[in-house]
Amino acid sequence: MAHLVFYDSTELDKAQLTNALKETDHYWEYQDDKISLETCNPNAEIISVFTTSTVTREMISAMPKLTLIACRSTGFNHVDLEAAADHNVTVVNVPTYGDATVAEYAFTLLLALTRKLQEVLAVENERLVMPELTGQDLLGKTFGVIGTGHIGQRAIKMGKGFSMNVIAYDKYPNEAIAKELDFKYADLDELLSQADYISLHLPYNPGTHHILNRERLLSMKKGAIVINTGRGGLVDTRALIEVLDDGHLGGAALDVLEGENLLDYEEETALLRKGEAPEELLRHSVEISALKKMPNVIVSPHNAFNTVEAIGRINQTTVDNIVGFYNHEIPNKVEAKPVEPGKLILLRHTESEWNAKGVWSGVTDINLSEKGKNDRAIVGQKLKELGLTIDVAFHTDQKRTADTLSGICQVIDDGRIRTVCESSFNERNYGEYTGMDKWKVKEEIGEEMFNQIRRGWDVPFPNGETLKEVYERVVPAYQNGVFPLLKEGKNVLIVAHGNSLRALIKYLDSIPDDEVGNLEMLMNQMMVYQVNPQTGLKESVEILDTGTKVEAKF
Ligand code: NAI
Repeated sequence: MAHLVFYDSTELDKAQLTNALKETDHYWEYQDDKISLETCNPNAEIISVFTTSTVTREMISAMPKLTLIACRSTGFNHVDLEAAADHNVTVVNVPTYGDATVAEYAFTLLLALTRKLQEVLAVENERLVMPELTGQDLLGKTFGVIGTGHIGQRAIKMGKGFSMNVIAYDKYPNEAIAKELDFKYADLDELLSQADYISLHLPYNPGTHHILNRERLLSMKKGAIVINTGRGGLVDTRALIEVLDDGHLGGAALDVLEGENLLDYEEETALLRKGEAPEELLRHSVEISALKKMPNVIVSPHNAFNTVEAIGRINQTTVDNIVGFYNHEIPNKVEAKPVEPGKLILLRHTESEWNAKGVWSGVTDINLSEKGKNDRAIVGQKLKELGLTIDVAFHTDQKRTADTLSGICQVIDDGRIRTVCESSFNERNYGEYTGMDKWKVKEEIGEEMFNQIRRGWDVPFPNGETLKEVYERVVPAYQNGVFPLLKEGKNVLIVAHGNSLRALIKYLDSIPDDEVGNLEMLMNQMMVYQVNPQTGLKESVEILDTGTKVEAKF
């Protein structure tokens, strides 16, 4: 017999759970409230929560007898899985309970938007034909489904039922299902440019954070509609509002939202009483307020799952999970999934005063030129447009990299970037040639020698460093300082120098020593890497224009 505490329980939950538990010898109690440090019960051996409860490490520590957390939901991103594992607490979920329930709701939202249902129901002065209520057919339109798991497949079937042309994107496509349900997989860019309606049915994790970022929203067809019943963090809400406001998209229906807990009156008032709120939450609050005022937007309070039948299935599976746990049968155990690595962005500092003159600066501290100072905002803007959120940004001991980074951070200004100074990414030491004009040196020593010391692998500048020596300090700093962050799913920016970045690229791209001379890292380019989570080496790279112009000779 175990002591069970059900949080977030409604009257319907209580009736269904009591009915399902009545044959067992467990002791159970209900809490209408969500779990908090105040409400967590130190005697609880099993707790069960809905998605409105966030279960933190502190709460798990405050329940020393806890053995099981039974999520009454499919998603489990509201439970600190690592903390649960550290305390030997098993976590279970309800993998499926309402594939059709959620897909039906996605269509409820889509039909409500395309037939302007909000406006139709608000009509008081009835006339027979009202042009402002003219909607659009689903028949013959292209329906783009992102995520073809349980719910996505139901949505596809429903899309087919409406005689739409269905295309889908999934990171792990299932060709057998595509054949069975008669739809085609497309890559994400293709889907975004072709679909009239896009419905999101994929999980939220660091790898899918803002999968619909500004760039992708802008790449969608003019007038297209986004339906999100997945998770709020899949869409960059601020960018969505701007793209809707500019008239590029035709509408959005959002059952899930970034900062959606603010839709809860109690959460809101608790924040007000506290007198302070994280900046991010305040921004989401303004976003939600703006969305609710937009005529072509529907906001609903995470309601897609909410039918009597689906809740019945959730509660029955939860009780089965709890009883099964006592019989050592745990089919719905949740494991912390390997996180998709974050993106690595490599960028040279903007133009310094000595870059402008064509002089080797090496480790000497040189200020940015006026152009270099101005370019920082252009690069920052570009990163913003790309929707690349940056969690950690590295600069070097040389002030020009820190100055470049601070200019970029001012533009991005989301308050979340952690900056780190890493001297291993310092510029190459140019020894006796430091402060000399490159092009005069070239004339003096001849082109061949010039190219060898400048681009060769193991050729030192007199009393300076070889590229190989730079590589030997850059690579361990990447392996020990940067790669662990990428593995946690964090996006990392490195603002460094031509040679330290070339050394890193040689490593990431596995370039042989004798080919390193061909490797360029241009001032107006940034490289965005996706690395392999096991090796830390390149899986793919995109070379993007920073939007700045190169004027100086390098
Ligand atoms: P599922 O696990 O059956 O399917 C998810 C699909 O997404 C899989 O096919 C997977 O390969 C794909 N996927 C994973 N990462 C991807 C990526 N980076 N890009 C493209 N595809 C990717 O999950 P199910 O049951 O279909 O649920 C989908 C989501 O719906 C859940 O994760 C949950 O967040 C949300 N949901 C929302 C509810 C609501 O009330 N609004 C209720 C239930 C679920």
